[in-house]
Amino acid sequence: MSNSCLSSIGKKLIMSISGLFLVLFLLFHMSMNLVAVFSGEAYNAVCEFLGANWYALVGTMVLALGFIVHIVFAFILSLQNRKARGAERYAYQEKPAAVEWASQNMLVLGSIVFVGLILHLSQFWYKMQFAEIAGITNQYGVADGAAWMQYYFSQLPVVICYLVWFVAIWFHLCHGFWSALQTIGWNNKVWMDRWKCISNIFATVVMLGFAAVVIAAYIKSLC
Ligand code: HEM
Repeated sequence: MSNSCLSSIGKKLIMSISGLFLVLFLLFHMSMNLVAVFSGEAYNAVCEFLGANWYALVGTMVLALGFIVHIVFAFILSLQNRKARGAERYAYQEKPAAVEWASQNMLVLGSIVFVGLILHLSQFWYKMQFAEIAGITNQYGVADGAAWMQYYFSQLPVVICYLVWFVAIWFHLCHGFWSALQTIGWNNKVWMDRWKCISNIFATVVMLGFAAVVIAAYIKSLC
């Protein structure tokens, strides 16, 4: 086994661990957002608690690091794989049925997730936590997060873009979750089948939770 092979396993391991960390964040973030469906006041109270204090900032920095590590290593590994395959990738290959579409398109899906994330952060994180830290009180600073969410998701094009984004995340999660567990060594045949099933259920529950927030706000705006 060559050195480069060993190091690519190390990189995959880092991707898996950072990915699992991001999965936990998604579960937390979705649960927190769901609060807004039931009570705007309760949602704002949670936001205030997790506002611009030192532990929230440390959390944000750790989270940003998790995203950066995951994305940078995804690109490095994909480039490495491409290089390793060389001209072979242009040859016709019959793809095994077991290799699902998401697994072959993780970089494309991840890129859609990334672009959506940048737009999302510019509309929410920048106008909420960043505005609070920077003391921005003009129209770009949002004190009432629940009201901002309600206004933002009352626009149909925004709702559609978010739902498309969620579908990309759903595909990415369905494959990424079990793939991460396989990489860290939980890969015997019985458990792999179970993890694939758990990944699909988990991704569906989380993304339906996010979608419920967006759709509930849109429906409320019609009433
Ligand atoms: C219904 C869908 C969503 C809503 C309503 C929503 C809402 C929000 C809000 C209000 C914030 C700002 C919180 C603050 O800084 O005080 C935020 C931050 C953030 N969102 Fe979302 N979000 C949604 C989906 C997502 C998804 C799917 C992802 C990941 C792919 C995501 C990633 C983030 C990240 C990374 C931050 C910055 C977190 C931090 O600074 O602690 N969000 N979101």
